[in-house]
Amino acid sequence: MRVAIVGAKGMLGRELEAAFGSNTMLGLDLPEFSLTNPAHVEQQIQAFKPDLVINAAAYTNVDACEANSDLAMAINGTAVGTLAEACRQVNARLVHYSTDYVFDGANSQGYAEDAKTNPLSAYGRTKLVGEQKLLGSSCRYLMIRTAWLFGKYRNDNVVEKIIARAKKDGKLRMVNDRWGKPTYAKDLAAVTLQLVQCGKPDGIFHVTNATPPSGITWYEFGLAIVEQLGLKIPVTPCASDEFPQAAVRPVYSLLNNTKLPPLRPWQEALKEYLSERSA
Ligand SMILES: NC(=O)c1ccc[n+]([C@@H]2O[C@H](COP(=O)([O-])OP(=O)(O)OC[C@H]3O[C@@H](n4cnc5c(N)ncnc54)[C@H](OP(=O)(O)O)[C@@H]3O)[C@@H](O)[C@H]2O)c1
Repeated sequence: MRVAIVGAKGMLGRELEAAFGSNTMLGLDLPEFSLTNPAHVEQQIQAFKPDLVINAAAYTNVDACEANSDLAMAINGTAVGTLAEACRQVNARLVHYSTDYVFDGANSQGYAEDAKTNPLSAYGRTKLVGEQKLLGSSCRYLMIRTAWLFGKYRNDNVVEKIIARAKKDGKLRMVNDRWGKPTYAKDLAAVTLQLVQCGKPDGIFHVTNATPPSGITWYEFGLAIVEQLGLKIPVTPCASDEFPQAAVRPVYSLLNNTKLPPLRPWQEALKEYLSERSA
């Protein structure tokens, strides 16, 4: 199979390169390749003639999206339509990733794959436009929403940010009024490979590590990180208004997976991540 990965140097992109490595691969990323250049996108896809394109590229700095919403829209929104059309022209299937931030997070029961979207932030709005461009195209697709993504190929991922703060301050205050479901990028890449290999019909899928239906708070996540690392520092809960951020986040960022077998529990995934990190 010929596989092109867009955003191949990103946290998920590099896990995908490893997972799909036995195929004939093309990695596309900045600065040599930009999704926002339609001619370039079309030319690369036409030349490589992939069977599968995986789009792991995005403008992922949620707070920076508020001030740079035009650029975020170009990458997260408009470019997805360009890529889908280029894929359609060569009959390639497109795997695309989206986010829990397309939902407003007001529902403590969480959000199934077909739940109504209502983003609160510029990032969420741009990612929703990307979803709409994909669903409105005639391209064969898998659209995978994920959340709270961490992996070894980004040294400023959420887990590393928590560890850095804990070590710097000798203590940790963590938000206890926002809920979510963590996802290990390596597990997400493995599921993506399985979905492609089993010929899963087109559709929207929610993929996170197995987490209780009510999710966990950032406090619970931080506590688990500190405990698993054996750090002897106090972890205390706090309210989210203690950490003001430019973008509004959903309170219940809960992606309900109603279609796929569950992944391994989030604690197991975190344990593997932390052990590989310190190995
Ligand atoms: N991280 C999370 O917590 C999270 C949560 C939910 C969903 N997601 C989704 O999961 C997917 C993967 O996220 P990630 O965290 O792996 O992202 P990431 O680490 O930020 O990687 C994204 C990659 O895309 C590249 N890129 C940005 N703009 C581009 C452009 N115009 N043309 C080509 N490449 C471009 C980036 O290059 P530069 O680094 O040079 O900019 C980077 O290599 C994204 O769709 C994201 O929206 C992520």
